[in-house]
Amino acid sequence: MTVFGHRAQAHMSIFDRIPSLFSSDMAIDLGTANTLVYVKGRGIVLSEPSVVAYHIKDGVRKVLAVGEDAKLMLGRTPGSIEAIRPMREGVIADFDTAEAMIKHFIRKVHKRSTFSKPKIIVCVPHGATPVEKRAIRQSVLSAGARRAGLIAEPIAAAIGAGMPITDPTGNMVVDIGGGTTEVAVLSLGDIVYARSIRVGGDRMDEAIINYLRRQMNLLVGESTAERIKTSIGTARMPDDGRGTSIKIRGRDLLNGVPKEIEISQAQVAEALAEPVQQICEAVMTALEATPPDLAADIVDRGVMLTGGGALLGDLDLALREQTGLAVSIANDSLNCVALGTGKALEFEKQLRHAIDYDS
Ligand SMILES: Nc1ncnc2c1ncn2[C@@H]1O[C@H](COP(=O)(O)OP(=O)(O)OP(=O)(O)O)[C@@H](O)[C@H]1O
Ligand SMILES: [Mg+2]
Repeated sequence: MTVFGHRAQAHMSIFDRIPSLFSSDMAIDLGTANTLVYVKGRGIVLSEPSVVAYHIKDGVRKVLAVGEDAKLMLGRTPGSIEAIRPMREGVIADFDTAEAMIKHFIRKVHKRSTFSKPKIIVCVPHGATPVEKRAIRQSVLSAGARRAGLIAEPIAAAIGAGMPITDPTGNMVVDIGGGTTEVAVLSLGDIVYARSIRVGGDRMDEAIINYLRRQMNLLVGESTAERIKTSIGTARMPDDGRGTSIKIRGRDLLNGVPKEIEISQAQVAEALAEPVQQICEAVMTALEATPPDLAADIVDRGVMLTGGGALLGDLDLALREQTGLAVSIANDSLNCVALGTGKALEFEKQLRHAIDYDS
């Protein structure tokens, strides 16, 4: 028994090592809210919030924490610590911090084979400008990549959601992330139409903060707003007119002291009405701009939702009611873009046209 156990273990560790020795190539989904790393032959090995915390002493910044640990510090830091989200609206807002974060994550998944520099594919929003694309490529190269390829996020999302994107039929994917919502129509492996709006999970959190301030004189931080959204958030008025409620704490704006109140799903639906409406309108606009035969395919096949925002309660229903289209939520919607970028790396030959190594 012991011998067998030993053998099995020895075997495992060899298997463990082989892929990272022979390939350390990676795919990275550098998201506004979360960064995911896929290693060739191994799948998704890391998924952490895109946050870096620095310790500041005598004007010098030193990285204190990255990812999950740093996210816990957001909104709770003393003067000597600064927690930063380097990505905003899908692109790099703070170059140095983004580079520090990518470096940290690459090192974390790449412990053993330090001798080989990896090739890395990163996805970028369809709407990213050439300057923004160059910034992403540059930060990946400075973080230690041998070669950096870019792939459009909607293509990655659709591959990750398992859509038959290389078929000669119209497929619509709607990726709702932290910073942006990207609506795209794909056919024959490429983008026919794509539009990115700067509305996503962050905008929903802001809408909740504003609602509580205006309607209930309560000031809450981003993490409380996000918690309200992910626990009872809904895109549609509950059928009973109220839904469930939760207790939340914040600061009373009238007298400045902490206060606890109850918020219902109906109130959250009211708070989220505007961002939800903007997402529905982006889908309608895309449908109107799609050539008729492809639009007919989409009416037949429906729309696929990916990204963390796809998990907002009843968003699929709200979209169906407003657009008349069938709507599905992808399995593993938070991981779709990373999985799709990873598949592009694994099947690079077949998907060569979608990966851009030099612009
Ligand atoms: N159950 C849920 N309900 C509503 N929103 C959710 C839920 N779970 C996660 N989210 C939101 O999803 C967002 C993160 O999604 P995702 O990881 O796809 O974004 P990202 O890829 O980092 O951003 P982007 O693609 O815009 O750069 C966050 O705003 C988070 O609050
Ligand atoms: Mg994303």
